[in-house]
Amino acid sequence: MFLTADAPNSLPAAPATGRVDARAKRLINCNEVDVNQLMPLKYRWAWEHYLNGCANHWMPTEVPMHKDIETWKSSKLTDDERRVILRNLGFFSTAESLVGNNLVLAIFRHVTNAECRQYLLRQAFEEAVHSHTFLYIVESLGLNEGEVFNMYHEVPSIARKDELEMELTAEILSPDFTTDTFEGAQAFLKNLIGYYLIMEGIFFYTGFVMVLSFHRRNLMTGIGEQFQYILRDESIHLNFGIDLINGIRYENPELWTPEFQEAMIERVRLAVELEIAYAHDVLPRGILGLNGDLFRDYVQFIADRRLERIGLAPQYGSSNPFPWMSETMDLAKEKNFFETRVTEYQSASTLSWD
Ligand SMILES: [Fe+2]
Ligand SMILES: [Fe+2]
Repeated sequence: MFLTADAPNSLPAAPATGRVDARAKRLINCNEVDVNQLMPLKYRWAWEHYLNGCANHWMPTEVPMHKDIETWKSSKLTDDERRVILRNLGFFSTAESLVGNNLVLAIFRHVTNAECRQYLLRQAFEEAVHSHTFLYIVESLGLNEGEVFNMYHEVPSIARKDELEMELTAEILSPDFTTDTFEGAQAFLKNLIGYYLIMEGIFFYTGFVMVLSFHRRNLMTGIGEQFQYILRDESIHLNFGIDLINGIRYENPELWTPEFQEAMIERVRLAVELEIAYAHDVLPRGILGLNGDLFRDYVQFIADRRLERIGLAPQYGSSNPFPWMSETMDLAKEKNFFETRVTEYQSASTLSWD
C-alpha cells in the first residue's frame, strides 16, 4: 500500500523513543542505541581515527612511476631483488582484498556502534585504494597480472598466511554465527586479533621493510612512496583495531579468559613462524642489508609490541634490527609528507557539471 499526503491517518505511528544516552552505546551486542545514532559520541577514539584517516587522503595515480619503470627495465636490479619486489606485490595485492572483504562482510555487521562503523567505512575505502595501488604498479611496470594476483594460490609461503586469515572470515560468515553467545563473541575477538593485529600489524610489516629498503637505496622510489602512504594508513588501521579489541575486552571482561589469552598468544606465535618462513622464501640468499635471519628478529620484535598493546605478555625479547623503520614511520606522520604530490583534489567550488 502507498501512503498519500491526504491520508494522514494511514501513516504508521511514530515510534515513541526518548533521546539517546551515549553512555548506553556498546561496541558489540548493543540493544539500546541503534547504529544510525552517530552523535553524541561515546567512543571519541573512533571519531579521531576517522578524522586522521580522512586527513591522509591519497591516490596511487598521483605518484609518478617513470623512474621505477626505467629501473625495472634496466640491469640495475638483480634477480633476487626482483623476486623481493614481485613476491611482496603478490602478497599485498590479495591481502588488501582479504582485509577489505573481512571488514565489510564480517566485522561491519557485528560492530553495533555508529562511530566505529563510520571509521570502518573509511577504512574499507582505504583498502580499495590499496588494492588499486597494486594494480597500478603491476600495470606501470608491465608485469603479468595473472602471475601477481595468483601468488596467494601458487606461492606456498603466501598461501599459508592467507589461509590463517580466510578461516577467520569463514567462521563469521557461517549462517548461524552470532556474537550473542560467549563462544561467538570470542570468535569475533579472534577475528579482530587475526586481522588487525596479525594481518595488518605483523604480516604487512616484513613487506614494508623490504620495499622501503629499496627506497632507502634510491631504487623503485615510486613504489616506495606508495608503500609509505600505505604504511601510514595501516598504522591507523592497527591503532583503531587495538582500540576496538581493548574496548570490547573492557566491556566484556568475561571473554578474556586465561585459555582465550593463551590461544591468542599461540596464534600470534604461529603467525610469527609463517612470517619468518615467508621472509626466508622471499630472500633465499639475502640482498643488500636484508636477509631472512634479520627478519626472525624483526618479526619477533614486532609481535612482542603488538601483544603488549592488547595486554598480553611479550614472548621473544628480540631487538629491532631495522631501527630506521621508526624514522620512516615518524616521517610518515609529518604534515609535509606530500612533497611530491602532483594532483590537487577538486573541491565543491571547482566542480563543473556541464
Ligand atoms: Fe590496506
Ligand atoms: Fe589496512
